[in-house]
Amino acid sequence: GRVWTQVGDLGQDHAQQTVLVRGRVHTVRGKGSLGFLVVREAGHTVQCVVQVKDNVVSKGMIKYVTKLNKESIVDVEGLVVVPPKPVEGTSQPVELHVTKVFCVSTAAVQLPINLEDCARSEVDFQKGEEEGKKFVRVGQDTRLNNRVIDLRTPANQAIFRIQCQVSALFRQALLDEDFVELHTPKLIAGASEGGSSVFKLEYKGQPACLAQSPQLHKQMAICADFGRVFEIGPVFRAEDSFTHRHLCEFTGLDFEMEIKEHYFEVLDVLEKVFLTIFDGLNEKCAKQLKAINEQYPFEPLQYLRPTLRLTFAEGVAILKEAGHEVDPMADFNTETEKTLGKLVKEKYKTDFYILHRYPAAIRPFYTMPCWDDKRYSNSFDVFIRGEEIISGAQRVHDPELLTKRATECGIDVKTLSTYIDSFRYGAPPHGGAGVGLERVVMLFCALNNIRKTSLFPRDPQRLAP
Ligand code: 4AD
Repeated sequence: GRVWTQVGDLGQDHAQQTVLVRGRVHTVRGKGSLGFLVVREAGHTVQCVVQVKDNVVSKGMIKYVTKLNKESIVDVEGLVVVPPKPVEGTSQPVELHVTKVFCVSTAAVQLPINLEDCARSEVDFQKGEEEGKKFVRVGQDTRLNNRVIDLRTPANQAIFRIQCQVSALFRQALLDEDFVELHTPKLIAGASEGGSSVFKLEYKGQPACLAQSPQLHKQMAICADFGRVFEIGPVFRAEDSFTHRHLCEFTGLDFEMEIKEHYFEVLDVLEKVFLTIFDGLNEKCAKQLKAINEQYPFEPLQYLRPTLRLTFAEGVAILKEAGHEVDPMADFNTETEKTLGKLVKEKYKTDFYILHRYPAAIRPFYTMPCWDDKRYSNSFDVFIRGEEIISGAQRVHDPELLTKRATECGIDVKTLSTYIDSFRYGAPPHGGAGVGLERVVMLFCALNNIRKTSLFPRDPQRLAP
């Protein structure tokens, strides 16, 4: 058979070989006896030269090629040639001297958005302006309305390959620590994270909810002797507000584990997992990080080994020291978190840190209070660049205390009866955490909007495509 090559793999080691590639018509130009076709595959581009040659390329073929609609899918056979200098505007260091072209699928003449417009960086825009070019800016809504095309840009191709690596690395790191991957139900009887942001629905005549997290069932799996569990799955939140970091559906990376002595055991696992993820991304995704950087420039993530751990009270002190008014028993708002992130970065040179021992009153009902001071809890949040990516805690495993805490939080304990009952048959101390996958990718790459890291985002105003 013939040897197919990926556009992204084409390099000098293919010189003088005849290869076959499949990709999209990125751009075409030329006429008469010479045509240029740039073929793109998965964000990588290569220039294909079509030149009249006896018995191989006719003028008719050049006419055919230059009339191909942009974004059509073509098979191209050609000889790999190393040009004297790299072809501008393409990603590969070689070009193809075409011997055959076959159109596999034709794209519409008029596309709703232009891919080159979608792929431009702020620097490109400025340069263009200086040169008097009229570049079109494609707004976020237009992009999302036409997401299938928008996703074809090099940066978007890279973002979702990085997203894939984050979950792969998360999974592998936890498997290496003896965790079991489980799948909890998404149709449940009541809210798992408190009332307001829950999608309600009817389940065969019975009121039900879409799971706001795997919280209840991952804890029940601990009561069922699984010891250490994790899940990668959808999480539903009926968010009301339209922000840069909230989706109505996102992917949760959750884990839960038995605790022998201290909730720091959970932090130890979390730290190991995240250092594995960050190292893994830097090691395996250099190409993707570069592609993202070209459109959306960002500073590489700075992180310490071991990870910085501060108590909530220490966070409050850092803020006060810098002259910020904060209530030591209230939750930080988004602005305060950002400010603290900046102060921590100045002081400790890290973009990634853990804040723990939060006031108990601002944590969910299932959170374990500190044994030495009940005003605080064995809980934590984790931040990247001053924004939350993870929240977790040791859980209450005493059914009476759990019932009391839920009632105090105004939760209808009837909807929680099977959950609370699970702790009546013997339950070990345990804790865990929930991570937002889209937030991790957004903040690792310092992107400005979570919609950029969700394939087909769901927000309060968007249910399609
Ligand atoms: O802070 P949250 O609500 O915590 C829980 O769900 C707990 N059950 C976790 C635990 O194990 N105790 O959500 C966890 C993470 C957040 O840190 C954030 O990264 C992400 O999920 N997240 C969202 N991501 C996108 N859109 C939203 N609306 C999100 N809400 C939370």
